[in-house]
Amino acid sequence: MTSSVLSRAAALDDRLDRHWPVADTLLRRLYGGTPGPDHWPNRWLDRWLDHWLGQVREAVTRAARNRPQALADLDTRRQAEPDWFQRPDQLGYCFYVDRFAGTLAGVRRRLDYLAELGVTYLHPLPLLAMQSGDNDGGFAVADYRSVEPRLGTAEDLRALAEDAHQAGMALCLDVVCNHTARDHAWAQAALVGDPTYRAYYHVLDSADEVAAYEATLGQVFPKTAPGNFTPEPSLARDGGGAWVWTTFYPYQWDLNYANPAVFLEMLEVLLHLANQGVDVFRLDSTPFLWKAPGTSCRGLPQTHWIVQAWRALLAIAAPGVLLKGEAIVDPDDVVSFFGRDEATGQPAANECHLAYNNGMMTALWLAQATGDATPAHALLDRLAGRPRQAAWITYVRCHDDIIWDALAALIPQETLHRVSAFYAGATAGSYALGAAFQADGGGAPSTNGMAASLVGLRPEGHPGEADTDAALARLLQLYQVTLALDGLPVLYMGDEVALTNAPVASVPAGEGRWLHRPHMDWDRAAQRGGGTAAGMFRAALRRLIQVRAGLPALHGAEPARPLAGLPGGVLGFQRTGSRPLLCLANLMGETVTVSLPTGFAGRDVVAEEDVDPAALPLGPWQTRWIEVRS
Ligand code: GLC
Repeated sequence: MTSSVLSRAAALDDRLDRHWPVADTLLRRLYGGTPGPDHWPNRWLDRWLDHWLGQVREAVTRAARNRPQALADLDTRRQAEPDWFQRPDQLGYCFYVDRFAGTLAGVRRRLDYLAELGVTYLHPLPLLAMQSGDNDGGFAVADYRSVEPRLGTAEDLRALAEDAHQAGMALCLDVVCNHTARDHAWAQAALVGDPTYRAYYHVLDSADEVAAYEATLGQVFPKTAPGNFTPEPSLARDGGGAWVWTTFYPYQWDLNYANPAVFLEMLEVLLHLANQGVDVFRLDSTPFLWKAPGTSCRGLPQTHWIVQAWRALLAIAAPGVLLKGEAIVDPDDVVSFFGRDEATGQPAANECHLAYNNGMMTALWLAQATGDATPAHALLDRLAGRPRQAAWITYVRCHDDIIWDALAALIPQETLHRVSAFYAGATAGSYALGAAFQADGGGAPSTNGMAASLVGLRPEGHPGEADTDAALARLLQLYQVTLALDGLPVLYMGDEVALTNAPVASVPAGEGRWLHRPHMDWDRAAQRGGGTAAGMFRAALRRLIQVRAGLPALHGAEPARPLAGLPGGVLGFQRTGSRPLLCLANLMGETVTVSLPTGFAGRDVVAEEDVDPAALPLGPWQTRWIEVRS
């Protein structure tokens, strides 16, 4: 054995010593003593559990041994710099493979374009083999081990990971862990009567049981996929009925994590993909994993234990890999996805390394529509409790709708309805070209649309008044604020060139989210300089990205803190560090002059000018980054 093989083995032993006890405790708590589905023997539970834990340990150890050397080297580098994803030079880019570049091979050819923008983290949206026909943009996975043939092959995915790593980029992939497609082999086996696979899903036998659960569940797609259960007569036993749990669309079957076999299957999927070169797993629909009667089935303690166990096990097999939670829930609940210390109940970095800051994204849009920064300031206070070793994913837009109801705990319903109508272009004075999307139980409809359209940019040939400068100023403000928040900012494809909505005719009825999933416009992307809206915006954004990379205060460890004493229409927060930074954003269309609290003097590092702290003018929708001098 060579010394590097020996040291790899010793390092693995060390990781097993540190992380296995964590996983073991969590898994015993989850699966020990819980009455299981009737196909696995409760009588032998203890012996069975030891045996099963042995399988888990074996899976993780095998994956660690099989980890390609290049990935093991990357792990070593990341372990030496565990804050790599918090650094101010990190920038993400999220896109649908087909819309951006046709195929995975096409994406590889576009890496130069992304590198020029400053991208260090690639997030292609779902690309694994998906259900044929409707598939919720790939979020209905038919096979976790192969790539959707339209987009490429497993080899193309490995090649993309390799190229990305060469270019200094990490690769993030969606793992749709809450549900499989009805097309998946497990669901298909259940449909033909295999009890082992039936027990992979939640199948209810009676309409009464369905009604009892529905009484406390919310709805994700109340208009297009009402309810949380779908009748599947082929799953029925003993002449009864059968309803399968489908939180999302009827063809997305929720997995039953009370069955340990499901936990192990998904762990194997994570281990497999990690060894293909995936660096970050976006755990789709994280809050929904565990179900219990009489609850909302969102963010239950067991869900957290599952994610914490995955984290501990990945820390053994692929210690450079990160977990990202997709939890679009109440702001206080989102923080819990970073983890908690069992003994103290305090935040601890033992769950997701990253989680979407959906709250601030939504509050920013709300702030621009209302001209009121108060809710965003309140939210910053609430979100500051996250563990310092974790980071938010900060963003302006993504492939989903903007869900106003996610702020229902903070903002009156009337305001949420007004903002929703504003972005649908349905209020007097609205500049927005978005569209309303479904809402749950009388809540404010959410909003679809590309960022550029929501800030009022008109595509060529669009009728009606257009104030391009104002629209671009609003878009730049959203990005400038987002880039200054504490986290890893992720650009949504096309925003860098102010790409507007997809043609309405291309949006399928009932799935309005395709309004903001247009094809990349490469002609627009080729426009450079000040002559066009796209060129101007791209240059301005690129400058922000470059300036950000050199600002130590924008490292993601310390949270953004709201600044007190500003006019209501000015959003302001402070970032601490060796050279503290203030971010100030005028949310309104008129100039406002603010006086900074005593002690703040400094330089606008974007405009490259010294500022007078006593009387600092902010133009319409202007944002400033001010480095504070002592
Ligand atoms: C996540 C995805 C969304 C999808 C849902 C169901 O929320 O972002 O696009 O519809 O999960 O998989």
